[in-house]
Amino acid sequence: MVKRYRDRTAVDGLDLEVARGECFGLLGPNGAGKTTTLRLLLGLTWPSAGSISVLGLPVPENARIARRRVGVVPQADNLDPDFTVEENLEVYARYFGLEPAAVHERIHALLKFAELEERLHSPIRELSGGTKRRLTLVRALVQDPDLVILDEPTTGLDPHARQHLWNRLEELRAAGRTLILSTHYMEEAERLCDRVAVMDHGRIQAQGTPRALVEQFLPRYVLEIREPVARRELLDAGRCRIEEIGALTLVYSNEREYLAALIDHLGISRYLERPSNLEDCFLHLTGRGLRE
Ligand SMILES: Nc1ncnc2c1ncn2[C@@H]1O[C@H](COP(=O)(O)OP(=O)(O)O)[C@@H](O)[C@H]1O
Ligand SMILES: [Mg+2]
Repeated sequence: MVKRYRDRTAVDGLDLEVARGECFGLLGPNGAGKTTTLRLLLGLTWPSAGSISVLGLPVPENARIARRRVGVVPQADNLDPDFTVEENLEVYARYFGLEPAAVHERIHALLKFAELEERLHSPIRELSGGTKRRLTLVRALVQDPDLVILDEPTTGLDPHARQHLWNRLEELRAAGRTLILSTHYMEEAERLCDRVAVMDHGRIQAQGTPRALVEQFLPRYVLEIREPVARRELLDAGRCRIEEIGALTLVYSNEREYLAALIDHLGISRYLERPSNLEDCFLHLTGRGLRE
């Protein structure tokens, strides 16, 4: 699919398939086109070209029907600040035409799932950012969706709130729901996602399991050197790959012994030797420049 705005192309020939029951992560820097992609899936904006099918239904033509089976956690919380937790959920449940008798039971069960039972009568304005995020997830689950779409579900949350939300998402996945989420937290993607696609400039740069992506693009280990070193000291015919980011030097290699020997040879004290990870891969694929 393609989505063009007046003077820019937000999504530029994206071809993507997500299997039922999968947790799929859309990774990309700010402005990569993640939100636009998710909005296209929800039928909130029309593609300039291409076709989209969600749960077997063509979108945007059948978006209203598809949306009954899709829960949404938007990038910015849009809970009604004048209402309580309960009222927010009731309004949403009514919108989806749930039986009033079933609504109470369902809201209670979901608030329990999110450990929010005690906040039933709290006004939204009294909730912390993490609590609002959990509530938005609860709201997304009110109509018992098969697919849940989450746009940066944990951006801005503290570590406890983030862990809590991750646990809830893992439970949803274990219960067989399909999850599509966007994130720029690689730790989140590594923990939750079966597969990820790295997106930049509206295009997919690479996709696969988190592990496969790291293996495809980077040597197995990396030595982070956090002090100045002479580059010529590092060169050793094809046994490593060097990347310099400001004062940080990264030396990648498949041979741990080589990196150990290098640490000795350089006599450095400020360093970290570790396996290469998805964040390294993400930075490698999307460049290291600052974005919007
Ligand atoms: N309604 C819009 N009108 C014009 N440009 C837009 C609009 N929405 C998004 N864009 C542009 O499309 C690009 C992708 O945006 P977005 O999908 O929000 O990226 P991401 O969610 O990955 O940060 C950006 O350059 C953004 O400025
Ligand atoms: Mg976005």
